[in-house]
Amino acid sequence: MKEKLQVNHLSKTFSLSAKQQKIEKTKEKYRNAVNDLSFSAYEGEIFGLLGPNGAGKTTTLRMLSTLIKPDSGDAFIDGKSIVKEPEIVRGKIGFLTSELKMEDYFTPNYLFDFFSDLHQVPLDVRKTRKEALFSRFGIDQFAEVKVGSLSTGMKQKVSLTIALVHNPDVIIFDEPTNGLDVLTAKVVTDFLQEMKAEGKTIIVSTHIFSLIEKICDRVALIINGKLITCDTLPNVMNGLSLEDRFFEIYSEMVGDEI
Ligand SMILES: Nc1ncnc2c1ncn2[C@@H]1O[C@H](COP(=O)(O)OP(=O)(O)OP(=O)(O)O)[C@@H](O)[C@H]1O
Ligand SMILES: [Mg+2]
Repeated sequence: MKEKLQVNHLSKTFSLSAKQQKIEKTKEKYRNAVNDLSFSAYEGEIFGLLGPNGAGKTTTLRMLSTLIKPDSGDAFIDGKSIVKEPEIVRGKIGFLTSELKMEDYFTPNYLFDFFSDLHQVPLDVRKTRKEALFSRFGIDQFAEVKVGSLSTGMKQKVSLTIALVHNPDVIIFDEPTNGLDVLTAKVVTDFLQEMKAEGKTIIVSTHIFSLIEKICDRVALIINGKLITCDTLPNVMNGLSLEDRFFEIYSEMVGDEI
């Protein structure tokens, strides 16, 4: 198994604004969102980052995608540093989030071309790739329709294709099935499995146990920014359902509080 992503002691702390302190009813000035996180992901696997709300999943994925810088630590994709070589890393990854806001005014066609230009995808390659992806996701018939009038599911499919314009080796997907109905969620998970079969590395974050059980080969459990365990799915589950195993681990951590 070839190591594709190596995460080395990543940490990130945010200062909390007065407004945020009020909303979260805390006097803390800082939030240690990611705390000394290390793990690896391999070629041809779906790796799941599992954790409850506020665990630090999105912060981790945003660092891996070079959108924000870690305070300390580093991560490497094919040996390229997210801190020192972010441009090279960006060419190797596709980052997707269910919270991605696409400008309503633009059409799928325009957005695909715009992002292909950003990644300097040659025109002939772009054309073939666009045809294949638009057809795969049934976007063809909506190619000239403004994104603002598309359904949530179709918007998610469009953002998926846009993240893949440069055919990245590593796909990083924050909460892939958030807000999707079962049919669209299946289109997305089927596609991730196809990408895995092609040898891509897929990193997903979620708090949904069934999603991890369904598609992930290995899983890292994070709570309060810290890595609790990282192993193959069967090893983490240890003969239980993932949900039961999570509560077992969680109650060992916090005693009788739950
Ligand atoms: N820009 C920011 N400024 C201040 N605090 C932040 C910022 N981003 C995240 N946090 C805090 O860091 C912690 C981790 O947040 P993060 O969004 O990474 O968690 P998550 O695991 O993705 O949670 P969720 O399941 O709710 O999406 C949370 O306590 C959050 O409030
Ligand atoms: Mg999140």
